[in-house]
Amino acid sequence: MENTRGCLGGILAGMGFEVDIVETPLHPVILASRGGQPDWPHVVIYGHYDVQPADPLELWTTPPFEPVEREGLLFGRGVADNKGPLMVHIAAVARLLEKHPDAPLRITFLIEGEEEIGSPSFGAFLEANKERLAGDFVLLSDTQSTSPEQITITAGLRGIICLDVEIKGPKMDLHSGGHGGVLLNPIQALCELCATLRTPDGRINLPGFYDDVLPVFDWERAELVQLGLNESEYADFLGINKFYSTEDPSPFASVRFHPSLDFNGIGGGYQGEGSKTVIPSRAFVKISCRLVPDQEPAKIMEIITKALTERCPPGVSIEIIPGHCGEPYLVVPPGKPNTPPDQSPVLARAFAAAHQSIQEVFGKPPFYLREGGSIPIIADLKKVLGMDSIMLGMCTQESNIHAPDENLHLGMFHNGIAASEKILASVAGL
Ligand code: BES
Ligand code: ZN
Repeated sequence: MENTRGCLGGILAGMGFEVDIVETPLHPVILASRGGQPDWPHVVIYGHYDVQPADPLELWTTPPFEPVEREGLLFGRGVADNKGPLMVHIAAVARLLEKHPDAPLRITFLIEGEEEIGSPSFGAFLEANKERLAGDFVLLSDTQSTSPEQITITAGLRGIICLDVEIKGPKMDLHSGGHGGVLLNPIQALCELCATLRTPDGRINLPGFYDDVLPVFDWERAELVQLGLNESEYADFLGINKFYSTEDPSPFASVRFHPSLDFNGIGGGYQGEGSKTVIPSRAFVKISCRLVPDQEPAKIMEIITKALTERCPPGVSIEIIPGHCGEPYLVVPPGKPNTPPDQSPVLARAFAAAHQSIQEVFGKPPFYLREGGSIPIIADLKKVLGMDSIMLGMCTQESNIHAPDENLHLGMFHNGIAASEKILASVAGL
């Protein structure tokens, strides 16, 4: 037990797992295994224990780190992203092993603490732990469904690149009366530079950006139509009066199937109350792009860096600091027109078990759809170990992940445990 510090390690050790808390340059990874015969199926269950910052604190109804239940929802930072959905699978395994202590199933829990910062330590960790992680498929819940009753099996994730851009002008802040009118203001240069990133119709204005975008499959569009999402309800949820869905007439298709570019933060100059007549010496913007298959993060980073550098006007200089990157991911479930012919039989069995178990527990079959968010390690596990992921959405857009009043729907949570237990039992052949 010495090496099982903390709550999760202790729980998994109590369930009979061999637990290792593996140190990394940043946050440790919890690796917990239940071995068995080499011919038993091997499932890797993924989750992350890190969370996004809880601010703005004043917008929380109750303190973010004191979980409180209200009307069937559990509120707190991390309850939905990702502690609750991770506990779905831990509880399911506990129940399965209680009923079937000899279940012929190898299970490895892989629980990291850097997902929200792009998993910088994961590449080296994966290389060092390849053998222990080599399973038949990954099971996780770190994506969304459209409602607590209508489960989505996430068939793909967008990749991501993040960068910081700084525009530097005069060597110090200047009096705008003393010097206004004689030099290019870094804030103006930055805003003009940002504006060049869109064409007049709103598409992303970077040569080569769309070159590798894989067309959407017909079954994906059909699945989306079947889902019957309502655009005006979505606009109301967002609090906007018009979509800016420049990639696709459907905002639901835009967010799932197309790349995007966003400004995540911008600053420079005086930010306090009232006015201050100053020309700032610098201005900055934080940019991120969501990528779709088969866009390569390194190539897109190069494309945007080159364009920004070339477009930076004389009179100011530019510094670009690349941030985290993650590749997009796509898994085609069995039975679709483009299902890979060499899909592993264990994966196909696990997908079939997931379909059946969700149908039985939630009363409706799942939908198979890509999601707009990113979980960079999922593509790494595919690339390095050839493992595909079965992702069961165990929260919804109402769960407010990354936002105040993040919450977990407890009905979905309990049904999720029942479904996960059935999936694991079925994969084990029980
Ligand atoms: N759980 C999310 C990913 C997610 C959100 C998938 C919604 C599908 C729908 C995950 O914890 C997350 O927030 N990932 C980050 C990764 C990034 C910082 C590298 C993201 O998508 O912003
Ligand atoms: Zn998150």
